[in-house]
Amino acid sequence: MKISIMGTGYVGLSTGVGFAVKGNDVICVDIDQKKVETINSGVSPMFEPHLDGHLKDALKKGKLKATTDVKGAIAETEVSFISVGTPSSEDGSIDLSFIESVARQIGEVLKNKKEYHVIVVKSTVVPGTTDGVVLRNIEKASGKKTGKDFGLCMNPEFLREGRAMDDFLKPDRIVIGESDKRAGNVIEKLYSNFMAPILRTDLKTAEMIKYASNAFLATKISYTNEMGNICKKLGIDVNEVMKGVGMDHRISPHFLKAGVGYGGSCFPKDVEALIWKARELSYEPKLLEEVHRLNDRQKVMIVEQLEKKIPNLKGKTICLLGLAFKPDSDDIREASSIYIIERLLQKGAKVKAYDPKAMEHMRKIHPSVDYMKSAREALENSDACIVVTEWDEFKKLTDADFSKMKSKVILEGRRILDRTKVSKFEGICW
Ligand code: UGA
Repeated sequence: MKISIMGTGYVGLSTGVGFAVKGNDVICVDIDQKKVETINSGVSPMFEPHLDGHLKDALKKGKLKATTDVKGAIAETEVSFISVGTPSSEDGSIDLSFIESVARQIGEVLKNKKEYHVIVVKSTVVPGTTDGVVLRNIEKASGKKTGKDFGLCMNPEFLREGRAMDDFLKPDRIVIGESDKRAGNVIEKLYSNFMAPILRTDLKTAEMIKYASNAFLATKISYTNEMGNICKKLGIDVNEVMKGVGMDHRISPHFLKAGVGYGGSCFPKDVEALIWKARELSYEPKLLEEVHRLNDRQKVMIVEQLEKKIPNLKGKTICLLGLAFKPDSDDIREASSIYIIERLLQKGAKVKAYDPKAMEHMRKIHPSVDYMKSAREALENSDACIVVTEWDEFKKLTDADFSKMKSKVILEGRRILDRTKVSKFEGICW
């Protein structure tokens, strides 16, 4: 099938490359000329395992190209995915300005297109957006009618950063919200060579499935962190507890890892947007509010633990291992490290940090931090160390790597250090 993808962020580019891998002809569209050139040269603008390889392959086979030309891309294709950003506004509500603008542009092109076209919203949008803002803008700009001249679908994406290609190509399920049967049939056909159950539903339900999924996963994490905080006081290992809990198939063993809280561009933003939407509807979403609050507290709790060991942090050098919000990613959006560094600096500490991928991004937010070339270098002469991201390479650290620290205060936020290699450290919840 011939597909165009509007927006080349994580979801957009992974979707484009993924559909190309599946044999479709894909045009990725972005307003950023530099990004378009980078993609066309076979390099992904963000670090994502396996994406570059698949991208290069798709370009070589002539299955994918990137462009800034929205008009041409829509005219040449049968299906257009909207995959632009939906950031949070100041008040936590969702900012739909990019969605609105791309819907208008699509409408303007559809005005002169004779063939039937399906527009699919892939961005995470609050329920009511696709058959509200998107539909209204396309119909207004095109002068055409949904269900007759063009079709509208909402197809949420469940891929995770760091595992984007694998998650896209082997999803647990495919959700297709549709304005009408004809549009849904086109998208079901597009997914016919994927091995996953397909759920067809209406537009609003598809939008809510995405929010409900992310809110549930965020809830699972905050719940696990709460159990962890209680377990720590009881002298119980929360990891063992969650192993036992996760063996119940109704619960599942996934997303039961306690630590320094969830970050990234999705959970914090999506939970906030759902809270905002519920309040707009005069409903107080108490559980979600608490999930969010607990997470904010969890992100910086490790600094309080550090103060129990070093009461006055003024002038002390604290080493952070890991800055990205999760391993295999250079993304620091809403990462716990940002808030931990902020707290440490407020308390007069000096911060040294090492991350295999995310240091350049963090330098823009916290320029006063000393960014080091390796974990070992960052640990040297530090008064304490906090492990914030569970990069695989931290698993290999041994007592020898920590031996040059001024004092051996090691706090673990992600349970990555190996007890058989590092003799003394304390976990946030264990
Ligand atoms: C999340 C969802 O998992 C995806 O299904 C969804 O498509 C995506 O958001 C999105 O909406 O675009 P992502 O944010 O990439 O994916 O990363 P996750 O692997 O879900 O991790 C999010 C955060 O939760 C990380 O900071 C991670 O360290 C933390 N986490 C995860 C925990 O603290 N404990 C866990 O057990 C699992």
